[in-house]
Amino acid sequence: MGLRGLTGQGGTAAAAELRDTRGRPLRDLRISVTDRCNFRCPYCMPAEVFGEDYRFLPRKDILRFEEVLRVARLAVELGATKLRITGGEPLVRANLSDLVAGLAAIPGVADLALTTNGVLLPGQAAALAGAGLQRVTVSLDSLRPEVFQHTSGGRGEPEQVLAGIAAAEAAGLGPVKINCVVQRDVNQDDVVALARHFRGTGHILRFIEFMDVGTMNAWRLEQVVPAREIIERIDAEFPLEPVDPNYSGEVARRYRYRDGSGEIGVIASVTEPFCGGCTRARLSAEGELVTCLFAKGGRDLKTPLRAGVSDATLREMIAGTWTEREDRYSEERSEKAGPRKAGERIEMYRIGG
Ligand code: GTP
Ligand code: 5AD
Ligand code: SF4
Ligand code: SF4
Repeated sequence: MGLRGLTGQGGTAAAAELRDTRGRPLRDLRISVTDRCNFRCPYCMPAEVFGEDYRFLPRKDILRFEEVLRVARLAVELGATKLRITGGEPLVRANLSDLVAGLAAIPGVADLALTTNGVLLPGQAAALAGAGLQRVTVSLDSLRPEVFQHTSGGRGEPEQVLAGIAAAEAAGLGPVKINCVVQRDVNQDDVVALARHFRGTGHILRFIEFMDVGTMNAWRLEQVVPAREIIERIDAEFPLEPVDPNYSGEVARRYRYRDGSGEIGVIASVTEPFCGGCTRARLSAEGELVTCLFAKGGRDLKTPLRAGVSDATLREMIAGTWTEREDRYSEERSEKAGPRKAGERIEMYRIGG
């Protein structure tokens, strides 16, 4: 290190040159810390598949915190400035604050966030904030108990998630981003109620188009509620106007309420793909470096990590994987979408979205 600041984005000189085959730099690393979750959302970990006898990764196959920290440090040296902790559900991993403290101490990390279903936040938000976590994103698909019952696989109540959001805010982790995956005939009618609930709170509600990630959800295009329709529904009740992106390559398109009561976002990865600006790499809990949400798998970093390779070699591996990257799945979806067999695509719960 030592050259930090050279690119104006916190990267090093090497980072200034690291580009994939489509000219995209590495800017974000999303780190999955577990394949387990306390929910069973049907589109991610359907309860029929992830039952009592489902075998999750054994502990020995999951990266230890020092291994995660090493990969994260090298990714930051190669240009990443944003780190996001994901799962499964990251808060089921023991002693997560220790990892947060380690990540926060890496020179060059400008943003350190976590994506969670929120239920365990009341007991952990203060410790996470104290360890250096900057913000959280909480998933919430509906405020109606009967719909939430379905979307969480019968594992939670909206009240628990709201308590988690409140705990995050109280711990200084706000404003909180709230992610709602919109599915036709499931929660399309919750969109306006969610907007009504969160406007004026300072939190940022984002609606995600339902995607064909993994192989578990029997995704059909008819189930996608286009972002444009979501915006129209809200705008009819609470007039909206578009806002410029916070940074180039931002996933969510931003809108604000014309009456000044805050902002919302839509993540239109189906109807308006954003692969051109995709600067994200993902590290799975078992140590694979994955360069697209829709990839079949990733580059195994755990084996070399445990074989004791040098930082230089590991850095080369990460850089090489990025340099060879061609992914633009969402832009190709119309050609490639269709039934998927097990193993054809990495599952969402292994890379955390
Ligand atoms: P910030 O702008 O840093 O707050 O994060 P973000 O907008 O990237 O939000 P977050 O990481 O919460 O992503 C929200 C959701 O968008 C994810 O859970 C995914 O469902 C989707 N998403 C994020 N990154 C990608 C991506 O690279 N490709 C696709 N297709 N979807 C993505
Ligand atoms: N399409 C869109 N978003 C999804 N998520 C999980 N599966 C899908 C899908 N098929 C969301 C979760 C969470 C984030 C990590 O990704 O609801 O908000
Ligand atoms: Fe768990 Fe998130 Fe998957 Fe739901 S979407 S099962 S909360 S990891
Ligand atoms: Fe990035 Fe792949 Fe998503 Fe495109 S589909 S934005 S390349 S993760």
